[in-house]
This record gives sequence, C-alpha cells and structure tokens, in this order.
Amino acid sequence: MRSAIRRHSLDTTLTNRGTGDTGMIILTVESTCDETAAAVVTDRLEVLSSVVASQDDLHQRYGGVVPEIASRAHVERILPVIDRALHQANITLADLDAVAVANTPGLAGSLLVGLTAAKAIALAQDIPLLAINHIQAHVYACRIASGEDVFPCVGMIVSGGHSSLYRCNTPIDFEMLGSTIDDAAGEAFDKVASLLGLGYPGGPAIQRAAEGGDRRAIRFPRPLLSDRDRLDFSFSGLKTAVRYHVVGPGKPAVDAPSLSAQQINDVAASFQEAVVDCLIGKAELAVARTGMNTLCVGGGVAANTRFRERLEASAAEHGYQLHIPPLKLCTDNAVMGAIAIERFRAGKIESLDLDARPGLIRPRRGRASIGEP
Ligand code: KG4
Ligand code: ZN
Repeated sequence: MRSAIRRHSLDTTLTNRGTGDTGMIILTVESTCDETAAAVVTDRLEVLSSVVASQDDLHQRYGGVVPEIASRAHVERILPVIDRALHQANITLADLDAVAVANTPGLAGSLLVGLTAAKAIALAQDIPLLAINHIQAHVYACRIASGEDVFPCVGMIVSGGHSSLYRCNTPIDFEMLGSTIDDAAGEAFDKVASLLGLGYPGGPAIQRAAEGGDRRAIRFPRPLLSDRDRLDFSFSGLKTAVRYHVVGPGKPAVDAPSLSAQQINDVAASFQEAVVDCLIGKAELAVARTGMNTLCVGGGVAANTRFRERLEASAAEHGYQLHIPPLKLCTDNAVMGAIAIERFRAGKIESLDLDARPGLIRPRRGRASIGEP
C-alpha cells in the first residue's frame, strides 16, 4: 500500500490534477474483444501496472473469436484482472482518482462487462468515469511508447476487427480517411491460417510459416491497391484467392490442406506480402494526401515483423516520421487506455448511463468523425 498517495475527492481531483506529489492515478479497463485487461497509469503517462488475460486458448478450436464465449470469459476474469493490476501498482481502489473504460467499438457483450465493472468502481469510490475509444487508444499507444507528442498524424489501425486510416487532429479528434470494405487485415490472417491448418491466432502463425517461405512464390491479388482515389482496403477476395490456390474453386474446405510444409510456407509468405503491400500502399497514399508528416500505426497486425520492416523502409524512402509501439502495446492492452487523461483534460467526464457502442462509424461521402464514445 502506497501510503504517500492521497485520495482526492472528485472536486479536488479536478482542480489539483497533475500538481500533487503523485499526480492523478487512473485505472483503465479494456474488454472490447477477447483480451481482458486492466492497467494503472498516471496523468504523466507513467505505467504503474498492466495485466492482460488472453482468451486465445478458448477461441483456438473455432479459428476465431466466439462473442458469447468472449463475454462469459470477461465476466470470470474482469475482477481478478483488476485486482491484480491494483496489487501490482501497490495501491487499493481508494487510491484511484478516476476509472476509464473502453466503451467503443467492440463486441457488445464484451464491452458491457468492462463498462459495468468500471461504473461500479466509479460509483463506489465516487471518482470520475472516463470513456476510451478503442481505436483512438491504439493510436495513442504510439504517444505513450515514444514519449513524444505525435499529433497531428495519420493513424493506421490494423487489427482483428479493423483496418482503417484516420486523420488524427488531436488524440481525441479523428476523421476517417478509409477503411476495409469487407474483412479486416487480422481477420484475413486468421482465416488464411485456419485454411492452412496453422492454428489461432493466425497472424503470428502465418508470420512464423512465412519465415521459411518464398514471398515471390505465388502472385496473389492486391485488392484496391492500384486505386489511387480511395484509402480503403479489401481482403476478402485475397482470402478467396488463397483458398482457390489451396483447395481449388468450388471445392469444400478440407481439414488439413494437402500441401507440403514448404508449399504452406510459400503460401503464407506470399499471402503476407500481398497484405503488407496493400497496407503500405494505402499508408503512403494517406501520408501524401493529407500532407501530414507523421504516421502512427497500431493494432495486432502492427506486431507483424515483415510489416514493421516494410514500414521502416517506406518511412526512410518517403521521409515521414513513423511510430509503431512495441509488440505488447500493439495487441489489445489497457495501458493505451491512458488516452482517457486527454478526455479528462478536455472536461469529458461521463455519467453512469454511459453506454456501450459496439459499431464503428463509417464515413459518409468520404468524411466523418470517428464519433464520441
Ligand atoms: O488489436 P488486436 O489484439 O485485437 C483486435 O482489436 O482485433 O489484434 C488481433 C489481431 C488478430 O487477428 C491476430 O491474428 C493479429 O492481430 N496479429 C497479427 C500478428 N500478431 C497478431 N497479424 C499478423 N502478424 C502478427 N505477428
Ligand atoms: Zn484492438
């Protein structure tokens, strides 16, 4: 127990933020998809603890996240995860100055679990409840990791649920530039891995297989890459192209593809290169179009070694500043929820009727704000 930490009332927190000995202490909660996570952070972006309980083992046999299983697992894990985060930070609930929770976008049932836990803490402790937009948080991971003010920037989110590009004017003011029109990049990795019998989650499995393969072995399509008028992605046709290559058109899926280990590695490497080409092409186009000199990349697919390598080469070639967080801040975590401090500073404190908003707001006529949590 850190006896030096003062327990602020709501009012003194608002007026004294950042000026006390310890600064403001915030518990952040993340349960948007299949990771149950909690962290304790300060308004100076110090990370006092971070706990992530992955559900990979539960979803493995289905080759993807099963929403009902995810929400049930969140219910079982949320309190132990929060307890562990407080314990690791050497504090108790009484030391918290605010509690923040990701309430959008994500799986409805999963979001509700984190939201309910955070509301209960806000109510019981009489502390401010703050909302976290999960997409904005993925970009903010670059701010936390670099220690630099990365805004304004182009934000690129590539995960299991999203593949999108944003003009990020401030940490909490995003305009969508483009997004996938079908599958997300991570979803394509997961589905192709499943087709190749490589297991779940597919991204790391494809990456491992690709290390032993030839990325020039098969020329898979690069959907929308040559369309210079749009900043959108499409991975569904690429996934189908891999399927046709592996099992043939019109044939049913097979349990294990009848390819040799080397052929599987070649398919994995060629598929990965096609995805990376699409992502890099649109990231470069977004930087050029917006005239912004900084690109911040986040989401699980940003953990991909080949993608990171190609991004670094692209930044060097085109002269823009690139930020990609370390791996554990790319995949879902609660540390990136420290973005809540930006909303707190902007006076955005939520009432206890804050709702979960599962959907992502898509652009209409090419321009849209990402929407409020
Ligand atoms: O951001 P994240 O943890 O959760 C979502 O918000 O979706 O992203 C998970 C996704 C999964 O589809 C997983 O296969 C992918 O990120 N992923 C990767 C890698 N590590 C995780 N994809 C490609 N290469 C990786 N090394
Ligand atoms: Zn995510």
